[in-house]
Amino acid sequence: MSSSACATLVLLACATLAPAQSATVARDRVPPELATLTDEELARVLKMSPRGEQPTDPSNRVADDTRAAELGRKLFTDTRLSPAGIACAKCHDPARAFADGLPLARGIGETRRNSPTLLDVARRRWFGWDGKFDSMWSQALSPLENPVEMGGDRTTLVRVIRDDAALRANYEAVFGAMPAVLSAREGSADPLALPARPDASALDSAHAKRWASLDAPSRDAIDTATANILKSFGAYERTLVSGPTPLDRFVAALRGESGGDAAALPPSARRGLAMFVSSAGCYQCHRGASFTDEEFHALGLVGANGKVPDDPARLAAVEFVKANPFNLAGALSDARDTPKANMVKGLRRSGELFGQFRTPSLRSVALTAPYMHDGRFATLEDVVHFYDTLDGAASLDHHGERVLAPLGLSETQRADLVEFLRCLSPIAPESGAKTDPPAQPSRTSAPAGGNSLHSPKCSDVGDDGARS
Ligand code: HEC
Ligand code: HEC
Repeated sequence: MSSSACATLVLLACATLAPAQSATVARDRVPPELATLTDEELARVLKMSPRGEQPTDPSNRVADDTRAAELGRKLFTDTRLSPAGIACAKCHDPARAFADGLPLARGIGETRRNSPTLLDVARRRWFGWDGKFDSMWSQALSPLENPVEMGGDRTTLVRVIRDDAALRANYEAVFGAMPAVLSAREGSADPLALPARPDASALDSAHAKRWASLDAPSRDAIDTATANILKSFGAYERTLVSGPTPLDRFVAALRGESGGDAAALPPSARRGLAMFVSSAGCYQCHRGASFTDEEFHALGLVGANGKVPDDPARLAAVEFVKANPFNLAGALSDARDTPKANMVKGLRRSGELFGQFRTPSLRSVALTAPYMHDGRFATLEDVVHFYDTLDGAASLDHHGERVLAPLGLSETQRADLVEFLRCLSPIAPESGAKTDPPAQPSRTSAPAGGNSLHSPKCSDVGDDGARS
């Protein structure tokens, strides 16, 4: 908001729209553990909280439609979308912070990637560890049709909704009547009778043949209905937001705000925070209120042969997202001519993208073990050990990240960093975990529910217990 716009509003309204973002802290409020930080380093701490509003998604016209979110919520646990009975919630389990606790996700088979949490996913700029999708809704087709994940197909997806009276009523209330071309008509074959998806890979040849045998109007109508359903998943996922953390309470206290609580962050976590924004260099990639630059970096984690990274990651993702008919610039996007859609068209392959993964958000991280794109680290201690020693990283040559160097921390310092990471998980149960339909999906953090919920140890907040 511009300052002139602000001047025309009452001060209070302005403050609500643009939360206090003061860049400096009164030094008398700075606790001893942070006293050595420079103003610039303290400013990095202030950027961690509060989070602004969740970004809008113009590519999804029903992103904020509660009926669409309700349809997405129902489909999220629907086992009929997969011939093997696997629902989204198998890998994104509401009881496990919308992850699954496994190193590698398991659907029909074992995938090559760890299931990320879906909490706060609407804040991401790219989706998937390698950013293979440029919108949240387009992402959902991948697990649905992937033979290793759900093994379903878009024809079955549309049929399940068409033939279930309640789901169909929900769909039609949002998107209008299903076109006649999608119904089983007297005297002609039901276009949705057989599983079909347009995938030419060897595994899917039967599906692909059936897809090719459908007439063009049927295929177009199936794709349009599919995109609508994907957008309903997107609307639901926007309601999965994490609540306030001990760190948020602490930063509010630094700002001198009434809801703040300096004691929310124990001394060990404060020392970890100080390292995070200074000597340990974490903030260089894990920055801002989501602890991510939303960009891609190669940490050089070696692959199965123990020598070099073997997952092309961002390099392959760039090709994929450009060719994806469901991308932002595609016919089914509701905002085709945005700067981001144009940027996707302009993406180029280049060697340095090899092995790059998206910097993950660290909010809720204590709830989502194991860690990294392949779940190779079981605990936060293991992750910090990695950054401390860079054991298990290939020599970071011209493809690697120059900012990473072994930190050589003491045992206490490693524990401090871990304790800080534990303070980034919500105090109250995340709003998305509730099982009731989201009557009014909240798009901001739920209030913490009590007034003195701060814990002396953030380890009590996060839980490795979620894995047992
Ligand atoms: C077999 C397990 C599995 C199933 C089933 C599954 N997912 Fe996922 N999901 C994953 C994995 C693994 C990733 C990361 C993929 C990657 O990076 O290549 C992921 C990524 C995502 C992301 C991107 C998250 C981010 O941070 O970028 C979203 C959104 C998502 N899934 C939604 C869904 C929806 C909706 C469904 C059901 C239609 C679903 N998933 C079904 C395992 C699964
Ligand atoms: C050069 C950018 C960069 C820096 C600096 C960096 N990280 Fe990361 N971090 C990443 C990327 C990229 C990943 C994901 C890597 C992967 O999955 O292969 C990651 C993953 C993580 C994870 C695992 C999250 C999850 O959900 O699996 C944690 C925890 C983490 N980093 C903490 C830290 C800490 C603590 C520091 C400072 C000591 C740090 N990072 C420094 C880029 C960085």
